[in-house]
Parts: sequence; C-alpha cells; structure tokens
Amino acid sequence: MSETRADARTPLDRTPQWAALAKHRSELGETHLRELFAADPERGRTHTLQVGDLHVDYAKHLVTDETLELLRDLAAATGVAELRDAMFRGEKINITEGRAVLHTALRAPRDAVIEVDGVNVVPEVHAVLDKMAAFADRVRSGEWKGHTGKPIRTVVNIGIGGSDLGPAMAYEVLRPYTKRDLDVRFVSNVDGADLHEAVRDLDPAETLFIVASKTFTTIETITNAVSARSWLLDGLGAGTEAVAKHFVALSTNAQGVQDFGIDTANMFEFWDWVGGRYSYDSAIGLSLMIAIGPDAFREMLDGFHLVDEHFRTAPPEQNVPLLLGLLGVWYGAFFDAQAHAVLPYSHYLSKFTAYLQQLDMESNGKSVTRDGTPVGWQTGPVVWGTPGTNGQHAYYQLLHQGTKVIPADFIGFAKPVADLLPGLVAQHDLLLANFFAQTQALAFGKTPEEVAAEGVPAELVPHKTFKGNHPTTTILAAELTPSVLGQLVALYEHKVFVQGAVWNIDSFDQWGVELGKVLAKRIEPVLLTGEGGEQLDSSTAELVARYRSLRGR
Ligand code: F6P
Repeated sequence: MSETRADARTPLDRTPQWAALAKHRSELGETHLRELFAADPERGRTHTLQVGDLHVDYAKHLVTDETLELLRDLAAATGVAELRDAMFRGEKINITEGRAVLHTALRAPRDAVIEVDGVNVVPEVHAVLDKMAAFADRVRSGEWKGHTGKPIRTVVNIGIGGSDLGPAMAYEVLRPYTKRDLDVRFVSNVDGADLHEAVRDLDPAETLFIVASKTFTTIETITNAVSARSWLLDGLGAGTEAVAKHFVALSTNAQGVQDFGIDTANMFEFWDWVGGRYSYDSAIGLSLMIAIGPDAFREMLDGFHLVDEHFRTAPPEQNVPLLLGLLGVWYGAFFDAQAHAVLPYSHYLSKFTAYLQQLDMESNGKSVTRDGTPVGWQTGPVVWGTPGTNGQHAYYQLLHQGTKVIPADFIGFAKPVADLLPGLVAQHDLLLANFFAQTQALAFGKTPEEVAAEGVPAELVPHKTFKGNHPTTTILAAELTPSVLGQLVALYEHKVFVQGAVWNIDSFDQWGVELGKVLAKRIEPVLLTGEGGEQLDSSTAELVARYRSLRGR
C-alpha cells in the first residue's frame, strides 16, 4: 500500500481544527437564517460562487464567515489539497486496491500528459474515444448492419452499477440531444423481467447489445448477456456467427470478453484506474455516445474538464466542490445530519439522484479510516431525492416540518429545453417559481406570530408554523446542455472526494458489496436442491424453505 500523508494523521475529531469547529457550533447555537440574513443585507449576493455555467448560491446555509474559515482550516489540516494533487498526478490513492484514481484523465484534452506508472495515458484515452466515435457514427448513420443486413434501430446496454447508472442517467438528461429515431434501453436487474420488458417488442435483426462490465465477471450482467444472446440467436434462427454484428463489449477484461464469445475487435477498453462509479465518461458511455453523437459527447467531456480544472486550481475561498464538501462535513459532524437530498427541478434529471447515490454512498459509505482504524465521526450521508415538484407533493412535508436535519441541493435551469413543444414553454415559469419558493420556505419558514396574524385559531397555530432554518444550496444554470451535465457530475465527484479526504477514508474501494455476493452464490444451490439449508441461520433457513415450497419444490 502506498503511503500518503492521510495515513499517519491525528484522528479527525482530535485535531485542533475540529475542536475549534465544535466550539464555534455551540456558540452558533440556534442562530436562525432569518437572523443571518437580517444582519447582512448583501448575503444573497455575496454568498454565491460561479463555476463554468453553474451559479451556486450558498447563502441559505447555517454558516457565518467564521464557519467557512474554520472549515477551510479543517480541509487544510486534513490534506485535502495534497490528496487532490496526488489524484491528478496519477498516484495510487486507492490504497486498499493499490490503484490510481484518474477519471479526470478521461476528459483531459488530447495534448495533456497524465502518467500512470510512467506511461502517459491520454493517448490511449483518445484512441478509445476515437474508436467509439467511429463506431457511433456507423450505427447512427445506418452503415453498421445487423446479421441480416438491416440497420440498428435499438441499442440495449446491459450492465449494472457504474456500468448502467451513468449512461442511463445521462441518456435521460440529454434526451433532447438524442437521435430520436434510435432507441436506447438499459437492462441491469438480474430479475428476468428487466430484460423481458426491454426486448419483448424488439426485432433482433435491428438490435445491438452493448455488454458493459469493467470486470466482465459481474453475475447479473453476464447472466443477462447470456440470455440476450440466446434471445437474439433464437430470434434470428442463426448460429454464433451472428453475435459479431449484434454484440459489443465495454470492459477492462479482454480475456473475459473473448471467453464470452465477443470478438475483442468489438471491445472498447478502459482501465483499472477508472472506478465503476466514475466511468460513464469512458467507454462505458458508448450507448450515450451513440444516442447523442460524438460531438455532444465531447462537449460533455469538456464540461467535466472545466470543473476538474476549477477544482485543481481555484483558491479555497472560490473552490465550489471544496465548499460543498465542507458544508456536508459541517452538517454531518455538528448537526447530526444523516441524509442529504438532491432535488432537481428538471424532469430530464429524473435519474440524477439515483446516479449520485452510487457515486456518493459507494464512495463514502465507510466506517474505517485509510489505515483501518474505526472512525469516530459521521461519514457519507444517505443521498436521496426525486424531481422537486413531485417531491413537494410527497415527502417535502418532512423537510418542512419533520424533526430531521436534511440539507438539500436544488438544481434548476433558466431556459426550458430547446425542442419543448411551444405550448409547454409557459409552464417553465411555474416550475421555477416552485424551485425558488421551496428554498425560501425551508430557510425562513413562518413564525407562530405570522400564522396567528392570519387569523388562524390558536390550537392550529403550532400545526401551521414552519420553523424554517433548513439549509439548502441552489444551483442555477442557463440551460441543461451536455457541457452543463458534465459540469454537474464533476462537481459532485469532487465534492465526494473532498469529504472522503477530510474523513480520511478510502473513497475509491467498495468492499461492502462483496459479502452479499458471496452469500448469494452459496444460497442459490440451496434454492435449487434444498441441500445445505441446515448451514443457514434459522431465519434465512425458514425463508428459503418457504420459498422452495411456494415454488413447488
Ligand atoms: O458491486 C459493485 C460494483 O463493483 C460497482 O462498483 C460497479 O460499478 C458494479 O459493481 C458493476 O461492476 P462491473 O462494471 O465490473 O460489472
């Protein structure tokens, strides 16, 4: 394991910077956002930052200038900048897997130089992007033909986790930029219903499967890919020679791809220094590139790169990922916030929060530090949320009047998408009125006096009072373009990085997913044969027995 400064440091909660923050927190007490705004009429103007096209308003946070200074001190003391620089340099900061963490190289310009083990990886990155672009163009133009000579009308991406959520999310976000007569579908669940619903109305002769798996060993993906191959060959009445025209693979594992029966000429490669949840701007984005075209894909990568450069070079006071990361640390440590809501006011971002769940929770859902010592502080929050207006009529009640502290990000866009039906454009003001109203209500609430002044009977006043003081960040951009999507994702990637660095955890491994996989492998034969059930705990054994009986076994 490579040594980094973080391995040897004082436990976070015993640093003087932590103690200073704890003291400051108790001095802040119940200070209300109403007071902070009253004390500084300029707060709404001064507490904003800009990165690329993203205007970030953090005025409605429970922080003073002193809070922010103390948080930046904490970042300095915990070596956030040093770890960031080590990441950008290609050092093996994923210490438990001995790997570099270089998703930033995936969006570097062609002439950049980024070395891993002394080799510049940028030419390889661009060689794969070029190969993807050539292939995407052939599929989009109809030049790529299926086994029977028909062009492709539907692309089905088979993958799970990072090999699904990124392209599936981005395809939704960028729908207005897609070639509308080419359908892209995503299959991830090992529940056969997922593949069934994806292919039931398709003509195999016009279908292209993309098997996306970094390891090419993931049981869900390989199982679905085998089933898809049978569906294709049965449907075409063809032999395995048809596979070459209907299957391509995205992987780091050439041998696994070959063993599956996909020609490695039809494989798009990436590298072990790309984490699954950081991979949709690698070959894993092929389905997206086919949908939106190589130029829009490049625009998206440039958006990522812009925020990478901002994170790498902006001073701490102006560094947006640093700020957002530190705010999360503040609420987790000193307000006992367990959750973080991401609430987009754009229908196209409907899968954005689900994508962020893997990015954030698989990265920072850890409870030991980089040297294996149990942490004595909160790490990653529960990340959740759906498009805002729908949430308003479902769970916002809890945000407004519940007992929990749930910081929230509100994301909105000034312009509706370009190809919206003209009759629908007027709805955009109503959408954005809700967007602005909610953060206002969450921050300032409604006092009992204000409620009573409306003539509300005394017994109802407590029910109609809004305490307010709920912290939110507002991210506003002019419109949701490929570049803006890249900027948003990179912003969250680096926010997660900052938090992992402060908490001194390895944000780049995911050992917590292993145990369930191992146990499932052990249980599957018991479901089939009934043998070995006695080795299970009594609850699981009973459930398995009931399952077998319900299945008539
Ligand atoms: O099980 C978790 C995980 O390893 C994720 O980190 C990853 O994105 C996903 O599985 C899929 O892995 P692969 O791309 O290797 O199929």
